[in-house]
Amino acid sequence: MNILVTGGVGFIGSHTVVELHNSGYTPIIVDNLSNSNEGVLKGLKKITGKDFRLYKADCNDRQALEEVFRENKIEGVIHFAASKAVGESVEKPLFYYQNNVGSLMVLLELMKKYDCGSLIFSSSCTVYGQPDQLPVTEATPKKPAESPYGNTKQICEEIIEDITKTQKSVRAVALRYFNPIGAHPTGYIGELPLGTPSNLVPFMIQSAAGVRGPLTVFGDDYDTQDGTCIRDYIHVVDLAKAHVASMEYLAKNPEQTFDIFNLGTGRGNSVLEIVETFKKVSGAPLEYIIGPRRAGDVEKIFANVAKSKDLLGWQTELSLEESLTDAWNWQLRLGS
Ligand code: NAD
Ligand code: WQD
Repeated sequence: MNILVTGGVGFIGSHTVVELHNSGYTPIIVDNLSNSNEGVLKGLKKITGKDFRLYKADCNDRQALEEVFRENKIEGVIHFAASKAVGESVEKPLFYYQNNVGSLMVLLELMKKYDCGSLIFSSSCTVYGQPDQLPVTEATPKKPAESPYGNTKQICEEIIEDITKTQKSVRAVALRYFNPIGAHPTGYIGELPLGTPSNLVPFMIQSAAGVRGPLTVFGDDYDTQDGTCIRDYIHVVDLAKAHVASMEYLAKNPEQTFDIFNLGTGRGNSVLEIVETFKKVSGAPLEYIIGPRRAGDVEKIFANVAKSKDLLGWQTELSLEESLTDAWNWQLRLGS
């Protein structure tokens, strides 16, 4: 079964390519390499022994994307391709709406034309903002987006839901990721942030490796056990496996037109817990300073994952220690 994986050279996409392959699917990758590089394909080959076909194309380029549908019988789509830097989206909102919302529209049009019925969409826990109750379930009300990036995820979810109501031939699942971290346990693929990372774990491992200065912990005066923010950090391999489970869910439930799932561990960890766990598993020296709060940060959020467990038959298997060990090994390989 051919699965189109847009953004398949990226962090989550590349790990999903491995899991699709392991489960007998044939991933067809489309990526414009705007936030990744072709070297990832070598890592994929080392892990799977397989040369994956990459179409270097922009998902907004209708002609180029149509060629992929013409050349391959695409039976399902996993749509990762998007720009994801929250700060950049505030500076370039139109680019974000074009890249993230525009590409989805092109894709949906081609899925209709080529009779491709299953879509898995990368959404985000950012749609919940600062929730009133924790843990968040899929029924927790969405909050107005804090950034154009966050808004693109809300708009895309709404477009997909609308389309699945009226155009019955397309069925879809939106997956709301919490905080994906880690790397493949082989160390052959991982996260490759361009420039200075804004996310915690990439910055922390680069800091510990001496690539960056000390980590700044953004605020220790929140209403949490140690004053630092709480998130639900999920190993990227667990996350990748949920995409395979979602494809199988759509296949087994033909009456299901649209559904949403939280993908997290169900556990919240503070920034200082991440720092301490990382120091323990890596043995690396890590300096940090406490800085002011970062504008727009949510104080605490973590997932209720009961629905994913019940309906997808999926739950996380890997621990925070394993996530941080794998992230560190990836950094060591990159640095060597
Ligand atoms: P990533 O940047 O590593 O991967 C995205 C890939 O898409 C990159 O390889 C990039 O080159 C490609 N791409 C971007 N725009 C494209 C376009 N128009 N056409 C073709 N390719 C394009 O990001 P990721 O962390 O793997 O995220 C994947 C998806 O998951 C994104 O939709 C992101 O918004 C979503 N998400 C990520 C996180 C996270 O923390 N990493 C959390 C929630 C949701
Ligand atoms: C985690 C915690 C920071 C860096 C972002 C996006 C969200 C989603 C995931 C895509 C927070 C603290 C961080 C640092 C720190 N992406 N921190 N020092 O903010 O949960 O979410 O990525 O959808 O949309 O907003 O992730 O990794 O940036 O931060 O203290 O140098 O680490 O304050 O508490 P976040 P993050």
